[in-house]
Amino acid sequence: MVSPTEIILGDLRFKPLIFNAIIMERIRELAKEINEEIGSQKIELLAILDGAEAFAKAIHPFFSFENQLHFMKIKTYDGLHSSASADLDWSELDQLRGKNILILEDIIDSGFTAYKLTESLKKREIGDVRLASLLHKPAQLKYPAKPDFTGFEIGPEFVVGFGMDYREQGRELKDIYRCVDL
Ligand code: IMP
Ligand code: MG
Repeated sequence: MVSPTEIILGDLRFKPLIFNAIIMERIRELAKEINEEIGSQKIELLAILDGAEAFAKAIHPFFSFENQLHFMKIKTYDGLHSSASADLDWSELDQLRGKNILILEDIIDSGFTAYKLTESLKKREIGDVRLASLLHKPAQLKYPAKPDFTGFEIGPEFVVGFGMDYREQGRELKDIYRCVDL
């Protein structure tokens, strides 16, 4: 299917930023980088819902190490802005005690979500905690949550597609689009 050159979600216009073929190619490379780093360790993969579901499902088949994939809901974004609280399901975190973890995120913006999560994991006698994010906005980073593995570094723009949404719209787009109205 041909990708539209412009889409409108609510009050905002978006244009293509990264096409699906490029995303998939990078995901395969990223999996290779991660496989080399992890080696023969057993890893608990923690994909952050809803945004990272597409990334987690795309990269998972390329991992060569023993792993278990978990999904965890954390909601911190309110429309366009990172909100000041992160909603974590604590009971699930307790099951990860003593294990090595790789967090899978869709995008690191301020770094708040990833920072809160890694801090809570580290307090729970967990093994190594690493972070892989499909996208990272280095110019926006305000918390110490630089990903160990990054798919693409982008500017401070707001994006949708490949799991990422604007007010619950745009998640199912196979390409990544950037907002041209902000
Ligand atoms: P942070 O806590 O500020 O790093 O934001 C991380 C979360 O906000 C990500 O997991 C996304 O779900 C969401 N987010 C950040 N930037 C964007 C964006 O450009 N588009 C859609 N969601 C975003
Ligand atoms: Mg997210």
